[in-house]
Amino acid sequence: MSDAATLFVNAAQVVTCAGPARGRRGAEMSDAGVRERVGVAVSADGRIIAVAPDAEVRSAHPRASVVDCAGGVLTPGFVDSHTHAIFGRPRHEEQELRAAGVGYLEIAKRGGGIHSSVRDLRARSEDELVALAAARLRRLAAHGSTTIEVKSGYGLSLEAELRTLRVIRRLAAELPLRLVPTFLGAHEVPLEYREAPRTRAEYIALLVHEMLPAVAKDGLARFCDIFCEPGVYSADEARTILTAARGHGLALKLHADELENGAAAELAAELHATSADHLAAISEQGIAALARSGTVATLLPGTMLFLGRPKQAPARALISAGCAVALASDFNPGTSPTVNFPLVLTLGVSQLRLSVAEAFVAATVNGAAAVGMADQVGQLAPGYFADVALFDVADHREIPYWYGDRRCLATWVGGRPAHAP
Ligand code: NIG
Ligand code: FE
Repeated sequence: MSDAATLFVNAAQVVTCAGPARGRRGAEMSDAGVRERVGVAVSADGRIIAVAPDAEVRSAHPRASVVDCAGGVLTPGFVDSHTHAIFGRPRHEEQELRAAGVGYLEIAKRGGGIHSSVRDLRARSEDELVALAAARLRRLAAHGSTTIEVKSGYGLSLEAELRTLRVIRRLAAELPLRLVPTFLGAHEVPLEYREAPRTRAEYIALLVHEMLPAVAKDGLARFCDIFCEPGVYSADEARTILTAARGHGLALKLHADELENGAAAELAAELHATSADHLAAISEQGIAALARSGTVATLLPGTMLFLGRPKQAPARALISAGCAVALASDFNPGTSPTVNFPLVLTLGVSQLRLSVAEAFVAATVNGAAAVGMADQVGQLAPGYFADVALFDVADHREIPYWYGDRRCLATWVGGRPAHAP
């Protein structure tokens, strides 16, 4: 056995989420593997060697350097499987508009919403976008996230989408975080393709014949996502685009049944998508289709809260049907400008009615499954990357409890210190 380089000891609790290397479904989500009086031994190459009683890891690895958790709680770093972190200016003006009764899609129809972020991003340089996103990703990390999926989708032209994906690649090299890049060229139909002489069919052709091949050729994305929603992309259009993406070796994600039902969850299941995200308007048939599939149901309660929508996704029905449910922040300038993953756990418990154990599994193992990394991150168990977050609480249930606070003291990625606020 290789000797440990680092030991984490003296934690009040360790939330291990240990178990099979796949999304946990239904009743399996009720076990977050919380242990007391155990330490975590990490090898020099950043993998977990053992999770065992403190005295045992100490005596087995006498030369290792020791991190004293001082009675705090250790968890797997959160896996935030859905963010739109590459954008320019914040869209605070839309919050008041919605409060005054103007809906999200109505704001978009007036040229605001996603279109406003597109105009803004297109005018910014790669360096400027790297600087803006780096600061924002550090804030996400400061709340305990260590793996973060990041989408393009505010470029909506070949050049601006590739620029966005290059920004993500640079950030992945520069920041002590695991970033998962997703191509979301089908986030909207850009305004210039809505009027003669150009058509939305031409934009879809551009996506399929130029953007996807270029993204795949440079290995710029692992996933392809689409906003499949009545009024945005139909299920048939989504099928065309996602089938092409799969042909280029990309795995699939969908913004599915977010505001209105469009049978997008059923499409996600049909296409064997890795995840179907949002689902606030999913139907009974959609729930049944996801339950029969290997597609993770990713819920984003911060979005519905921030939009002031009355209905959250039917998390309990999804879990009862046997789905694997993940939680994510949806961090973006329009519908979910929060960097606080523990707040998403709070909403998971208080709005989606998850148990605390279910919320932790949804934020770690199932988030990892939603980015195809369930065998690498999301658990504190031998063989996994030592991606760890330490919280200033004595019981893990306090993490969703102190809502809005920042209790994360530090994170480690691959056993190396990553973020300390
Ligand atoms: O997940 N629904 C589409 N995409 C984002 C919002 C993007 C935006 O408004 O800028 C979402 O909610
Ligand atoms: Fe989103």
